[in-house]
Amino acid sequence: MAVGIFDSGLGGLTVLKAVQKRLPDTNLLYFADSANAPYGVRTADDIYGLTRTAVEDLWSQGCDLVILACNTASAAALRRMQEAGVPEGKRVLGVFVPLIEALTERQWGDNSPPREVAVKHVALFATPATVASRAFQRELAFRAIGVDVEAQACGGVVDAIEDGDMILAEALARSHVDALRRKMPNPQAAILGCTHYPLLEDVFQKALGADVKVYSQPKLVADSLADYLERHPDMAGTSAAGFLTTGDPRRVSDGATRFLRRRIAFDAA
Ligand code: DGL
Repeated sequence: MAVGIFDSGLGGLTVLKAVQKRLPDTNLLYFADSANAPYGVRTADDIYGLTRTAVEDLWSQGCDLVILACNTASAAALRRMQEAGVPEGKRVLGVFVPLIEALTERQWGDNSPPREVAVKHVALFATPATVASRAFQRELAFRAIGVDVEAQACGGVVDAIEDGDMILAEALARSHVDALRRKMPNPQAAILGCTHYPLLEDVFQKALGADVKVYSQPKLVADSLADYLERHPDMAGTSAAGFLTTGDPRRVSDGATRFLRRRIAFDAA
């Protein structure tokens, strides 16, 4: 067994990299649904169906715990999957909660009523489907009051990253920051609510300015997984790590190798 890490494509590798750094002895089985990426322009039903199929595949390969290293899947599918019922001994977790806990300065498992927090004006950058779901605002409302969230649907960014066109991805990121600023001129914090965007973290930070605190998920998710596995060591698994894709393994391997700057070999899922 290994912990499963799922994303529509390459973005979840930003989470995988942080988890490998934080938990070097934990095996990870990465699943990229590249044939169906990007998810961010699909309907919620579609994203739910695709996510469910991929997670069930990881469970059946022996992963007891699967992390949805994809905000779009977390937004459209996580709650629905948990409500529909998860098989005995299996778990699926998303990437929103660690981020919101960091933003609201909460400890893991703090279920006290929502309260006022220091940050009042938050910019959210995410895929169109994540923005449309309002899942981020819903999760935030369970923990904080009085926070004004302005969301920017960042069309095109995931496609450009998946295509390896970082010049286009950077130009789009800058134009999405401009569009956000027209709606919220002075955000105090910005959330990179898509696991592809940490690849552009410097671009977002520069466009937003040094006084805006940028929250990025990989390290937050890795810390929260470490905490979870400490309390549930039986979920860590012991079998081989690996990389699976529904797309063309050679093409996806090349993209992944470029991002992680080490040779990554994907197999067909
Ligand atoms: N990395 C995914 C996310 O965090 C990208 C979704 C997509 O395929 O559009 O939202």
